[in-house]
Amino acid sequence: MNPYKEIIIELESELDLKGKKALQELNAFFNPKDFNVSLNDKTLLIKIHSLDFQLFSLIKNTIETDSELEPENILNKIEKSIDGIKSYGIKSGKRFYVDYNIERKVKNRKEKEGRRGKYYYAQNNTFTKENNEIPEQFENQIICGDSLFELQKLPNNCIDLVFTSPPYNFGLEYEDSDDDHNWDVYFKKLFRILDECIRVLKYGGRLIINVQPLFSDYIPSHHLISQHCIKRKMIWKGEVLWEKNNYNCKYTAWGSWKSPSSPYLKYTWEFVEIFCKGELKKTGEKDNIDISADEFKEWVVAKWSIAPEKKMKKYDHPAMFPENLVERVLKLFSYKDDIILDPFNGAGTTTAVSAKLGRRFLGMDISEQYCKTARDRLE
Ligand SMILES: C[S@@+](CC[C@H](N)C(=O)[O-])C[C@H]1O[C@@H](n2cnc3c(N)ncnc32)[C@H](O)[C@@H]1O
Repeated sequence: MNPYKEIIIELESELDLKGKKALQELNAFFNPKDFNVSLNDKTLLIKIHSLDFQLFSLIKNTIETDSELEPENILNKIEKSIDGIKSYGIKSGKRFYVDYNIERKVKNRKEKEGRRGKYYYAQNNTFTKENNEIPEQFENQIICGDSLFELQKLPNNCIDLVFTSPPYNFGLEYEDSDDDHNWDVYFKKLFRILDECIRVLKYGGRLIINVQPLFSDYIPSHHLISQHCIKRKMIWKGEVLWEKNNYNCKYTAWGSWKSPSSPYLKYTWEFVEIFCKGELKKTGEKDNIDISADEFKEWVVAKWSIAPEKKMKKYDHPAMFPENLVERVLKLFSYKDDIILDPFNGAGTTTAVSAKLGRRFLGMDISEQYCKTARDRLE
């Protein structure tokens, strides 16, 4: 077996002396058994067994390059092509490009899946497979009202995808709704709304919920919400960890300072839970797929680094999610022209992005002010 992952780069012109020197310097930093680059005429051969990619980037920046004949910095080209390899294992900070998955390969996977019972908890559901068109009066609308009652006006099985971020019950200052209920009251209402979402979803449709659990009250909302959906026989497709990287977030509490008695854990991320109604596969026209190969490769790795929304002041809403999060969800899990519902639409991020990406939409929010903002954003 070849002990290396190999990458070949065909250069447009021969490397000049400066470029060759840069390659030599790069090779000198690494054990040739782990990583080396060789040049034959205009062909670069990169052989990688294992590599600390962060270290590689640091070293690359210290080497002088800018070869005259090769217009793009050759080291950037090498870095980009290595970073393009998405399959590798990680051990002690190093990426391993060969043999990393040998132990983990499962034999007779299909047979085992069949025997063990794939998503056993969602078998014997009573979902009807007959889907309906959404009535015209609901298409591309922002509806102001309590979504528990507004959703009841929709027929069964008429929505392709629900993407939403419910009020978290943190005590935020929303216009026209209270965000500080006893937890049992909060979940009772939320679950009734989620049940309505499940009812209006098409067979094969998706329910995608962004949740930030309230850790200081020790309420694992993302688990409780997932448990409820599973109880309703939805198939858990997976979970995205939305890394917001907000290390300077407001948490100043340490719990028990410098003592194991009760340290307080801090989080810089939120969750996105993904459920399917009836089946994992969603049908759609090939022409209505709008995700690129690069986006697909990057986004199926379920940790998304996206900064929190910066325009909350502008839109006068305290808990918006960013457009980029919605864009990823819609392109990865829906087709163009699908019907997207957000029952807690707030300042209308889901509806604005749906419109931009050629999806049809329906947004609901209890606040007249937020509904107006959502309508304005569609202009
Ligand atoms: C976390 S925010 C959603 C923000 C939205 N994702 C955005 O980017 O603007 C939750 C929203 O739910 C709304 N809300 C709370 N209870 C509701 C209910 N029963 N029906 C409809 N909307 C409700 C609040 O007004 C708030 O705007």
